[in-house]
Amino acid sequence: MSVIVLGSINIDIVAKVSRLPIAGETVHGSDFFTTAGGKGANQAVAAARLGVETYLVGRVGGDRFGQELLTSLRDFSVQTEHAIVDDRAPSGTAVIVVDRHGENQIAIVAGANGNVGETDVESMSKLLPQARVLLMQLEIPLSTVELAATIARKQKVPIVLDPAPAYQDIPAQLYASIDIITPNETEASQLLGMSVHNPETARCAAIALREKGVGTAIVKLGSQGVVCATASKTFFTPAFPVKAIDTVAAGDAFNGALAAAISNGLSIEQAVMWGAAAGALCATKSGAQSAMPSLDELKSFLDRHRDIATSGVIPIL
Ligand code: RIB
Repeated sequence: MSVIVLGSINIDIVAKVSRLPIAGETVHGSDFFTTAGGKGANQAVAAARLGVETYLVGRVGGDRFGQELLTSLRDFSVQTEHAIVDDRAPSGTAVIVVDRHGENQIAIVAGANGNVGETDVESMSKLLPQARVLLMQLEIPLSTVELAATIARKQKVPIVLDPAPAYQDIPAQLYASIDIITPNETEASQLLGMSVHNPETARCAAIALREKGVGTAIVKLGSQGVVCATASKTFFTPAFPVKAIDTVAAGDAFNGALAAAISNGLSIEQAVMWGAAAGALCATKSGAQSAMPSLDELKSFLDRHRDIATSGVIPIL
């Protein structure tokens, strides 16, 4: 049984700076590197690193990055039979700046990710009979996400949507197809047109997302923890204390680990705990896919933070 990810694959072009530039400003950087990224690919690696069979359905371009990106995914044990080379387009690209606190700004150019469509959804649907979870993000066309959600729903495969990057709002019918939605505070604010910046506003956002028709809403607040609202309970999971050096892909680590936990049959509380721990561990390393923790690393981290891992789920009335 496996996790299926339908999503983006990017080459990340990263500059480390002491602070993020404001509009029109040039700042000096201290380091530069290129690395494998893309929210879909990162989340697939995060799930695979936790020992779950993981398929990535998506596209790279017909350039030299395309082959490198596929090789990197295979090296992380992601199944790439349904990740294709699209000769009509360049590979997706992300231009990223990371400041000394680990905060980041990202601009993406879709490239081949923008061509992920019906053919890819057909490939994805062939995998659904063995799937425990379908995990998607919004770096591929929204119409593709909607089509995939409709098909997965009919086959009763749980759908996890990371609504990143956020649209002003997403169609009502898509909300109704989603089992679990996982925005961060910025995405929740954009989706709902409200300010989400702390556990209380995240609780309101989670409830508002449920009212739009999703089964479970998980609002990620980074160093302020996570709020989760299901049909029967609302709870808060505190953040694990770590020294963040690069938060790029911390949200992807969360989603991949959440999907892996669900695929392993863990409860929603445990799945959120896995997500929070994987996100925290990812933030302690530079890069995206290379920063995803292994199952052993995750387990020993949870063991070292037994205080949060055993009593860190706080019901909210
Ligand atoms: O979530 C982080 C990712 O966002 C980066 O790897 C970049 O490719 C963009 O997709």
